[in-house]
Amino acid sequence: MTTWNLEETRCHLLICNGGSCMAKQADEVTQAIRDELASLGADRRIHTTRTRCNGRCADACVVIAYPDGIWYKGITPELGRKLVRRHLSGDRLDEHIVYSYDGRFVSSGLSAAGTDKPTN
Ligand code: FES
Repeated sequence: MTTWNLEETRCHLLICNGGSCMAKQADEVTQAIRDELASLGADRRIHTTRTRCNGRCADACVVIAYPDGIWYKGITPELGRKLVRRHLSGDRLDEHIVYSYDGRFVSSGLSAAGTDKPTN
């Protein structure tokens, strides 16, 4: 069991490894992001976690960055490396943002609005 010290962590990337994203290179995206972090010596600054489906399969491969609350779509291995470099420099991968957080999630209009969740 691993127990990381996260005190130097500035960003947490959630990399979707659900079925639709896996069909769009999610495993390769995960490895590319982790390889880029290792090669830049930035493992402590950006923490990564593989997740199951995040409910935005049309956007595969999905990567989510917290605490900024940015949802990215269409991430490939090369874009994953670029995303790491952008976040380390305090920037974003603007052309792939589908949602950003401003008190609530705000759509960029770059992707399908999707369907409303049923109310129970
Ligand atoms: S499998 Fe990634 S959002 Fe559904």
